Amino acid sequence: MDIRTIEWKNDAIKIIDQTKLPAKLEYLYIKDLKTLWQAIRELKVRGAPALGTAAALGVYLGIKDSKAKNFSEFRKELDKVIKYLATSRPTAINLFWGLKEMLQAAEKVKFKRLAEMKKALFKQAMKIIEDDRVSCRKIGLYGAKLFKNNDTVLTVCNAGILATIDYGTALGVIYRASEEGKKIKVFACETRPLLQGARLTTWELKKKGIDVTLICDNMAATLMQQGKIDKVIAGADRIAANGDAANKIGTYSLAVLAAYHKVPFYIAAPVSTFDLKIKSSKNILIEQRSAEEITILFSKNPIAPPGIKVYNPAFDVTPHDLITAIITDKGVLRRPYKINIKKCI
Ligand code: MRU
Repeated sequence: MDIRTIEWKNDAIKIIDQTKLPAKLEYLYIKDLKTLWQAIRELKVRGAPALGTAAALGVYLGIKDSKAKNFSEFRKELDKVIKYLATSRPTAINLFWGLKEMLQAAEKVKFKRLAEMKKALFKQAMKIIEDDRVSCRKIGLYGAKLFKNNDTVLTVCNAGILATIDYGTALGVIYRASEEGKKIKVFACETRPLLQGARLTTWELKKKGIDVTLICDNMAATLMQQGKIDKVIAGADRIAANGDAANKIGTYSLAVLAAYHKVPFYIAAPVSTFDLKIKSSKNILIEQRSAEEITILFSKNPIAPPGIKVYNPAFDVTPHDLITAIITDKGVLRRPYKINIKKCI
């Protein structure tokens, strides 16, 4: 199965429209920044690493037709594009990392001609794509060593092909383990409210031939109580310097359950997901999303009374002491996270 979540094609950003899955595999060609901003906000493209790439390609898209006469003019245009894209979603650090990488690439060529500056930014965006492919495979390689033949694994949201370029972080570990010949069974939490687990994770695991069973989020405890889960693995949107990890809402409750049932709980993420400027989870900005995502969902009719008060945070934070290990593209990190993250990242 050769699926690319996001790439540069025909002078546009080509993405899979993830809101159409699993009913339809539909691609969008994005040719302007506003459409990209909306695609990010509406989760047509989503998942922390994919957002980093979307941001980088977005910067190129935003400046490729620039007519700036000098670097100062070019820099002004660049800043405007970066500032705009930075307002699309707040939690995944990869988005801001992608923007920063592009800014640094521009700074390196600031004495060159306009065409060369544009070329350098295109090259940087392509490098970010290639690096994502490599780092996901490294995460897979390191993480698969922790998984045994016949393991049953629980996951939440989607940290797979659809959250990266073409392999995944948490699901990349499962793909690698199965490529090594290990039989892995997966339970996928549906992931309320937007059902990334039900719509996306089951879709891609099924396509890859992995044994996957869908559950409602509130069934995870029962499965663990019955001794049916050997490991839990999730991705991350931002990891603080002490190892606290923000991920899709519901991840924290799985970590608490895993600790109670003595099931190892792993986070898988590339180094671009670490935010060492943030000491602990207290400083991670959690995106709040609209009430309709909960009250209407995908149904035509509301599933709650009109005007009901709604609390809809898109992410939660798992404290580092509930995480057995963090699987990164630089190796597997264990406690004490503060020291080991500093040494490795
Ligand atoms: O709101 P989403 O779908 O962008 O949330 C995505 C997640 O929470 C993923 O688990 C996370 O970004 C890790 S992706 C490798």
